[in-house]
Formats: sequence, structure tokens, C-alpha cells
Amino acid sequence: MKNSLGFDRPKHILSASQFNRAFLDYMYELINQIRKFDKTKDGLMYLQSLLPHRRAMLYFTQPSTRTFMSFQAACHILGIKPSEIRDTATSSERKGESIDDSLRTFASYVDLIVMRSPVAGLSDRVAGLLDQTPRPVPIINAGSGPDEHPTQALLDIYTLQRSFKSAAGIEGKTICMVGDLKRGRTIRSLSRLLTNYPGTRLIFCSPPEFKIADDLRQFLKTKDISVEETTNFSAAIAAADAIYMTRVQDEYDQGGESKRVDYSTYCLKKQHLSSLKSDCVIMHPLPRRDELDPAIDHDPRAKYWRQERNGMWTRVALITILLGVDSHIVLPTL
Ligand code: CP
Repeated sequence: MKNSLGFDRPKHILSASQFNRAFLDYMYELINQIRKFDKTKDGLMYLQSLLPHRRAMLYFTQPSTRTFMSFQAACHILGIKPSEIRDTATSSERKGESIDDSLRTFASYVDLIVMRSPVAGLSDRVAGLLDQTPRPVPIINAGSGPDEHPTQALLDIYTLQRSFKSAAGIEGKTICMVGDLKRGRTIRSLSRLLTNYPGTRLIFCSPPEFKIADDLRQFLKTKDISVEETTNFSAAIAAADAIYMTRVQDEYDQGGESKRVDYSTYCLKKQHLSSLKSDCVIMHPLPRRDELDPAIDHDPRAKYWRQERNGMWTRVALITILLGVDSHIVLPTL
């Protein structure tokens, strides 16, 4: 049932599809409030006092730097004690324990499980399984194979909303997504979230081999947004209010197929900057390779380092919602 703000309070965070505009607007305000506590020692101590009685498991069995570290930092900010498994070689999965049994074991010890896995749909399955046990705990999908990365998409939306604050918000803007759109989970989750902003125009720019998957294409057709697919990088970036670059997801190759794709014309370089809109927002979920020239880093339109830090605050906000202390975030009077 929807709350008075117009959204279902999430029990888990599994997919970008579960969020509506009311939730996104609430999350935006909540993060802005949380960031005010970061300005003073007393404010930070207040945040740490919210959840010192809670424990979290960070179960990351696929490589990660920023998602892992930002969730770990978010736990520290809220006073939560995190545990971690980053390699199944160090857990009883190595002895043949099933993933289901492992996750049920974690739920015996912690109050929240954040999981990244190479397996699409695993977090949904685990959440369903734990919901049937006497000790269900919230699950956060921190990246599930080539499928979904909902918390990345939420931080991307926050970054876009802040960037377009004085330009009437996200609605009506042209967002150009570039790269391996077929296997990029950030693309899949962000595209879904952007359908909450009517009038938005999405330009998907990729080599023919990396076009968006058909299920996403069909989903977008049912929404009030405009969608264009192109291989013309120069035209696409020149039309964009925001450019979202992504790398080749070759960890999902089945036979080295990425090496046969010419990606060289889908790289944003310093020489492209003059053709972009003067207030264009340049984003990337990172990590990057050649597709995003480090020479761009000092351009004021480059927002990817800010995007990374926004990720930490977004994850703080999401944890406060899941563990029921978001109502304690009010303007600091400390
Ligand atoms: N953007 C992102 O998910 O980065 P990591 O793989 O480093 O966590």
C-alpha cells in the first residue's frame, strides 16, 4: 500500500522497475538533508547514532571498487558494523554449500545484506527465499550480472537532478547513453528510472553489436519518452543535455567477441568538448577505459567524480529507508 508520499515503502532494493516518481523525489530530498549533516562533526556523530545496533553483510562475489567502498562507507556513516565476503573461495561455498544456504546463514547474523553477483536475478531469488523464513532481512542488489544495478541508477538520477536543478529538472532533457548498451546493467537500470520523467528523450549510441537488448526496447515503447538508436557518435553527443559513457562489458564475453567490435569511434575525447552543449553533463558509472579521456576530467561539465561521491550519500539514504530511520533525518539543529 502506498504511503502518504505516494510510494510503496521498499522492503528490498532489487530492480529499478520498483520505483516511481514519488519515491525518486523523496529520495532526492532525503539525500540533500543527509548531506547537511556532513558539514559538522556533531552532524556526522548524529548520523552515526542512528544505527549502531545494526549489522550488515557486504557479499560481493564479483569485482567492485566504488559500490563496495561506498556501501562500506555508508554503513560507517550510520554506525552500522559491516562484515564482508568478497570471494567464495573464503566461504563455505567452497565446500559445496549452496548460495541459498549461504545467504540464509548471513541472515542469521546480520540485519541487511548487500549483494553483488555475476548471476542475473540472484538477489530477487534470495529475497523471495528469505521472505519465507522466520528471519527475513532486506536485500540490496548492488549489481546482478548484466541485468540490473538499481543503486547505481538511483545515484545517477540524483546526479542528474542536481545537475539540472536550475534547468527545470530532468523532464524534457536529452540523455545520450554510449557504449556497450547490450550488456551494461547501469544502462538497463537507468533507462527504466528515466521513464519516470515524461518527455525525456533517450539516444542510445553504440556499435551495432552492442545495441540495447530487445526486452528493454519493448519496455521503453510502452512509456511516454522518445527513444532513438544510432551509430552516429558525433551527432548524438552534440544533441545531448547529458552524456552517459560506458565501457565494454567484456567480462560477459563467451568467446572473445568484444575484441572483434570496433569501439574506437565511441570514445569521448578532448577534441569533442567543443561540439557539446555548454551545459552538457558528462557522466560515467566508472571504472573507465579508453572510452573516456582523462584529459576531460578538468572540464566543468565532467560530473563523474561527483557522481561517485553522490553514490555514497545515495546509499546512506537507501539504508535509512530500508532500516526505518529516514524519519530521523530532519534539518540539523545541532
Ligand atoms: N559503478 C560501479 O558499479 O563501479 P564498481 O564496479 O567499481 O563498483
